[in-house]
Amino acid sequence: IGVTTVFFVPRLMPNDPVEAMIGQMTSNAGSMSPEAVVQMRESMNSLFGLDGSVLHQYLDFFKRVVISHDFGPSLSSYPTPVMQMIARALPWTLGLMLTTTVLACTCKKIISPAMNTRMFENPITQDNLKICEGYGMEVISPANGYLACGDVGAGKMPEPDVLLQYILKEIQYKKDLAGKKILVTAGPTREAIDPVRYITNHSTGKMGYAVAKVAAYRGAEVTLVTGPAEEKPPMFVHVVKVESAREMFEAVTSKSDDKDAIIKAAAVADYRPKFVSTEKTKKADGDMSIELERTDDILKWLGEHKKEGQFLCGFSMETQNMLENSRKKLEKKNLDMIVANNLKVAGAGFGTDTNVVTLITKERETQLEKMPKEEVAEHLLDEIFFPQA
Ligand code: CTP
Repeated sequence: IGVTTVFFVPRLMPNDPVEAMIGQMTSNAGSMSPEAVVQMRESMNSLFGLDGSVLHQYLDFFKRVVISHDFGPSLSSYPTPVMQMIARALPWTLGLMLTTTVLACTCKKIISPAMNTRMFENPITQDNLKICEGYGMEVISPANGYLACGDVGAGKMPEPDVLLQYILKEIQYKKDLAGKKILVTAGPTREAIDPVRYITNHSTGKMGYAVAKVAAYRGAEVTLVTGPAEEKPPMFVHVVKVESAREMFEAVTSKSDDKDAIIKAAAVADYRPKFVSTEKTKKADGDMSIELERTDDILKWLGEHKKEGQFLCGFSMETQNMLENSRKKLEKKNLDMIVANNLKVAGAGFGTDTNVVTLITKERETQLEKMPKEEVAEHLLDEIFFPQA
């Protein structure tokens, strides 16, 4: 499973040149079908741009791993190349394709150890991983769970998408936001009516998550305060989960002081039920109404307590008079920028993968075409940190 799974990673990748290498060190490689070998050959070609002869050595290496599974016990006595690489840490001159490639490449190296739990937790392995880190290599923690050898614990190969994200974080963007601290909010809030029901909105968190992800992949230290969104939060960001507007207020205001930029993409409820029943509200004949009270406006509070040099960016979702209403929010909440979108425009709004926004600052308005939310995030971050004169 290990080897075949790891080759889903290049298949998931865009056609970018790859400057990262993932090593894989499971002894339980699983057997590969001829189709999988062909796929692997194609993936390797596009991944490393190797010529046929060198590729052959790579294929030989993977064949050896497969054979070790066929003939060896689960805790194989046959050490795979990455296992040897980690077990020995030094010397690197093992004459194996992987270790010699690691020696020869000046690019960033990422190691994804996968093996039996006790082997992984062994101090020798741990010490050697630390040595690898000392040489600037990044070690991906293995996943936890049921291992092929029957043990349960740390040692599983992470999902291919996890490995892919480690690579993309390395190569997808320039690290032009390194050293910046950014706070992003995303998703809806939920305002409880009783233990069963709540008031919320249609926000899925996609826009805020895209901003958090792109900022992190560009090197920033990102804190993401998120309401209960449908999307999975991006990797490599510090995630703080909240439910209500009040919880979001607490989380954001306690973390805002040292941030270079705060980007509030969350769709915070403006009202909450004044009284929250501790028991389920039973129905009665006739209508009922719920008395609502205002929540705190988090962005307004941030505008009133803005730190020297801090950049405050809000979002504004409108269905009419978008520019005029958004400009009013920019003024009223003391913002540096507001990202306005009209829910009624095709390709904008809740749940879509694209957005159509206008970036409004005190100086100018920039209307962006319809584009993927991650691209919107790039433009937005450029406008904050690298505004064109
Ligand atoms: N916002 C906030 N706290 C609230 C309400 C909104 O921080 N209690 C923030 C949102 O995260 C967003 C911005 O304010 O960045 C604008 O939100 P929006 O709902 O468009 O505007 P409102 O100010 O709530 O005004 P209205 O609902 O009347 O349009």
